[in-house]
Amino acid sequence: MKGFKIKFRIIYFIIFILILLSIIAWNSVFKDSNLIKKLLIQLSSASTIEDRMKKEIILPKPDYKGRLSVEEAIYGRQSIRKYSKDPLSLREISQMLWSANGINIDGTTGPTRSYPSAGGLYPLDIYLAVFNVKNLGKGLYKYIPEKNKLRITLRGDLKSALYEASYYQNMFGSAAEVIIYAYDYSILKRIYDKRGIERYAHMDIGHSAENVYLQAESLGIGTVAVGAFNDIEIEKILNIKDKEILYLLPIGKKNKM
Ligand SMILES: Cc1cc2nc3c(=O)[nH]c(=O)nc-3n(C[C@H](O)[C@H](O)[C@H](O)COP(=O)(O)O)c2cc1C
Repeated sequence: MKGFKIKFRIIYFIIFILILLSIIAWNSVFKDSNLIKKLLIQLSSASTIEDRMKKEIILPKPDYKGRLSVEEAIYGRQSIRKYSKDPLSLREISQMLWSANGINIDGTTGPTRSYPSAGGLYPLDIYLAVFNVKNLGKGLYKYIPEKNKLRITLRGDLKSALYEASYYQNMFGSAAEVIIYAYDYSILKRIYDKRGIERYAHMDIGHSAENVYLQAESLGIGTVAVGAFNDIEIEKILNIKDKEILYLLPIGKKNKM
């Protein structure tokens, strides 16, 4: 009888250890929710095979003349947080990206950008998270201003991950894309030290983001500057190294009145 009880205790003990081990294994696989997010992002990609093959997309040349005057765009500018379901076109995203960080007329130090930058350093990279753009697969793209093109860095739908990492702010739900500001502080630090990273970086970005607002107004597009998000989560989702993600600008067509 005694031997029988001991056997039972040993079996209970083994079952207990097995349950414990499975809990530990389960946690180690699933605790990194980014692993799952990345997996889901890859699986939920809606792009075509042909689109998947394309690593770089040449954008249409931006227009240098618009339908609104600067004054009208300034007057109409406002933050818009709900967008229509209509997709954006490549022409529209080219125009928006150009306004954020495009090449404009030659300055005294060479080609300048659409926004002023301390010391003409332009340490800003613009990325684009695409959800609903005609002829462009879902994913994350880097804007290459010198060539006016996009280079894919991640494939798949980042919408829900960005929504979550931005504290569930509603504008991500209806946005067709998000313009992402990635800033290289080290360049400004080297030249301007503390002043560069505490002041100039944020001034640079503010100038560029206002351009995006004005360009959006001119195209009948809505946007809103988003500064509230979880830095660590965003960094993991976008996998952009050695740069700070400072601003997100969700974008979509305005709803018709
Ligand atoms: C630095 C900065 C951060 C912002 N962050 C957010 C944000 O996280 N979420 C949001 O809904 N609006 C955000 N906004 C937009 C402001 O709320 C908006 O500009 C303000 O309410 C004025 O409205 P208007 O832009 O329509 O004039 C931000 C604006 C700035 C300049």
